[in-house]
Amino acid sequence: MTEIRGKLAVVTGAASGIGRATAVALAVEGARLAIADVDRAGLAETAKQIEAAGGKVSTYLLDVSSREAVYSFAQEIDAQGGADIVINNAGVAQVAAIEELSYEDFEWVMNIDFWGMVYGTKAFLPQLRKKGQGHIVNVSSIFGLFAVPTQAAYNSAKFAIRGFTEALRHEMRGTGIEVACVHPGGIKTNILRNARFLQSVQTTERETAASGFDRLARTTPAQAAQTILKGIKKNKPRILIGMDARLLDWFIRLFPASYGKIMFRGEGGTGGLLGTMGGDDVAVAKK
Ligand SMILES: NC(=O)c1ccc[n+]([C@@H]2O[C@H](COP(=O)([O-])OP(=O)(O)OC[C@H]3O[C@@H](n4cnc5c(N)ncnc54)[C@H](O)[C@@H]3O)[C@@H](O)[C@H]2O)c1
Repeated sequence: MTEIRGKLAVVTGAASGIGRATAVALAVEGARLAIADVDRAGLAETAKQIEAAGGKVSTYLLDVSSREAVYSFAQEIDAQGGADIVINNAGVAQVAAIEELSYEDFEWVMNIDFWGMVYGTKAFLPQLRKKGQGHIVNVSSIFGLFAVPTQAAYNSAKFAIRGFTEALRHEMRGTGIEVACVHPGGIKTNILRNARFLQSVQTTERETAASGFDRLARTTPAQAAQTILKGIKKNKPRILIGMDARLLDWFIRLFPASYGKIMFRGEGGTGGLLGTMGGDDVAVAKK
């Protein structure tokens, strides 16, 4: 069992959604918080919620895709006694078919979602090593378990997070450092509203996709945070969030090669799950 009380917890992407809710939940359990994000106003709001819950928090304006910035952030935390729990959560999404996906957009997703998580792991690991204990929690997705049309960049980053995190877990066995990979299902956050779409996709179609996602995403950020905390306390290596994630995990194992034919029936992979999310409209807009 891992004790949360009295620990110094670092959470990236804490200005919104899962990161904010997890930071507040950690504070409620007695952790001190160091929260980081590119969104200054969102960070201030999270800090307000933490303080209202009786917690202690420091805020850091940080772009996780900058290696130098992540390392100097880690240095500041080291000077305060070092992190005990590191939650690499910051992430962005991108919607475009591979043929239309620009390298710029692909790199934008990989730099934040994948490299941000690698920097956050490698920069903080020496602090945990020094203490001989701690937790690294990297947020992947159910899209790190199976692939979805128009999500190639996001899928690539989230599959890579899973590979990196599982390798780290094997390397850390017996060191006292616990490593968890988180696979949330649909969580009601701003992730799709903040996503990059193809320029040809109109605002109304983006809104259709976002509200389709809101309908589909059944888990709240607060519920997601509770699942993450439970996973940390129980030293779980793999944290699935939501009934949808648990069902899809089972479904993909049952149909590892043919799941796509069942889930995305239309031409170009539209229909099925993506259609329900408004993906059909997005696909039409691209043509
Ligand atoms: N919402 C879901 O359904 C869902 C499902 C699976 C995985 N996830 C993952 O959960 C994590 C949190 O996403 P969320 O749903 O809470 O979305 P969100 O958009 O509500 O929060 C993401 C946060 O990351 C921050 N961020 C973006 N770029 C950053 C950067 N370069 N440096 C620092 N911070 C940055 C944003 O400002 C925002 O505060 C992401 O990694 C996402 O991929 C979300």
